[in-house]
Amino acid sequence: MKVMVVGGGGREHAIVKALRRSPEIDELYVLPGNAGIGKDAVCVPVGAKDIPAQVAFAKEKGIDFAVVAPDDPLVLGAVDALEAEGIQCFGPRANAAIIEGSKIFSKNLMKKYGIPTASYEVFDDAQAAMEYVRTASLPTVVKADGLALGKGVILAQTHEEAEQAVRSMMEEGAFGASGSRIVVEEFLTGPEVSVLAFTDGHCVKPMVSSMDHKRALDGDQGLNTGGMGTIAPNPYYTKEIAQVCMDTIFLPTIRAMSAENRPFKGCLYFGLMLTPNGPKVIEYNCRFGDPETQVVLPLLKTDLFSIMKAVAEERLESQPVEFEDGYACCVIQASRGYPGHYDTGFPISVQDDFEGELFIAGAKSGNDGELLTSGGRVLGVVAKGRTLEEAIRKAYRENEKVGFANSFSRRDIGRRALAALEETHGL
Ligand code: AMP
Ligand code: GLY
Repeated sequence: MKVMVVGGGGREHAIVKALRRSPEIDELYVLPGNAGIGKDAVCVPVGAKDIPAQVAFAKEKGIDFAVVAPDDPLVLGAVDALEAEGIQCFGPRANAAIIEGSKIFSKNLMKKYGIPTASYEVFDDAQAAMEYVRTASLPTVVKADGLALGKGVILAQTHEEAEQAVRSMMEEGAFGASGSRIVVEEFLTGPEVSVLAFTDGHCVKPMVSSMDHKRALDGDQGLNTGGMGTIAPNPYYTKEIAQVCMDTIFLPTIRAMSAENRPFKGCLYFGLMLTPNGPKVIEYNCRFGDPETQVVLPLLKTDLFSIMKAVAEERLESQPVEFEDGYACCVIQASRGYPGHYDTGFPISVQDDFEGELFIAGAKSGNDGELLTSGGRVLGVVAKGRTLEEAIRKAYRENEKVGFANSFSRRDIGRRALAALEETHGL
């Protein structure tokens, strides 16, 4: 089989490495990939948003199966365009990817089908939004409707901050068209859990849960980033909570999407908050998470490609999806300054005795074929362990063996999860 993956970050590297283990795949292409992924698959210089070029490449190469990983091409209809040419795909069509593409869509869906989420109001008029936030209970949450690279969410502690958020989104166009409509919602509290789930529109099979670390600095300080590290499984997510989520969130969401004639096929990401009033949805993503995928897929025992095919062919019910019992930890190395300004072009070195898994997010090739940094998040070092403590210790040990001149990592990935685990076990 000839398979192509659309995307080019650490998540795609993890997907590529998992697909490479499949005996069914003879040729594996990544559009556009990056120089690090290029060691595991053939990179093709076609942008992740250039859908016509993706379709042209797939036809020219005789691609049998396409995996569309990032949100942008999914929301723009890459799966629709590839399927129109008879290419089987893993990923939702545009009419289902809207579950991430529009927060207003997903909030209205949850309200209509009784799926637990923060209460909210929608505004398309800046004046009305401004009046509302002036008296809203604090803290309050202001969200741009559309995709905003994970930056379209402001947690306002004061009414002035909330007004400023409305102003920058609706009047100053800080997020372009994404912010012309906004959602103002109730502030929720509790541990956050990411659950990625395979679904073919009929059945849903969740993967192991995980915990992201979104802030740039230790102790959850600093700016929001794409994610500075992850652990899996998430110790807050007990079997009992998983069952509640299945009954009140996962199945109702899949059924709601089908009832709306928007069957969701692919990986649906549930961003959950375990509030004192039960688990609630913070956000849906129409794709694998980054860097959640880097800890979840290394724990997957079943062949990823056979699951993806079962999803595409709507026979997930009879397809096993099994995970190892252990833990995994991913530590991201980012360029100093990220998520603000940073420099690139530094050589990435890996010691010979490196024993972890390395997922490259942002690298290009130098003149001598060496890897040079080319992004904010540059790479993720992943290690597995029988215990969470072991996975974290190994990930940090291996992290020391990889590096580049202006690298920085958080030092506390998994620390909160470990404390939670010790509490519940009374250690
Ligand atoms: P999102 O882009 O929707 O995932 O939001 C980014 C982050 O903002 C989430 O991971 C949460 O930590 C936080 N957040 C979003 N919505 C809320 C809410 N209603 N209450 C509290 N925190 C929130
Ligand atoms: N790690 C969060 C996301 O992928 O959206």
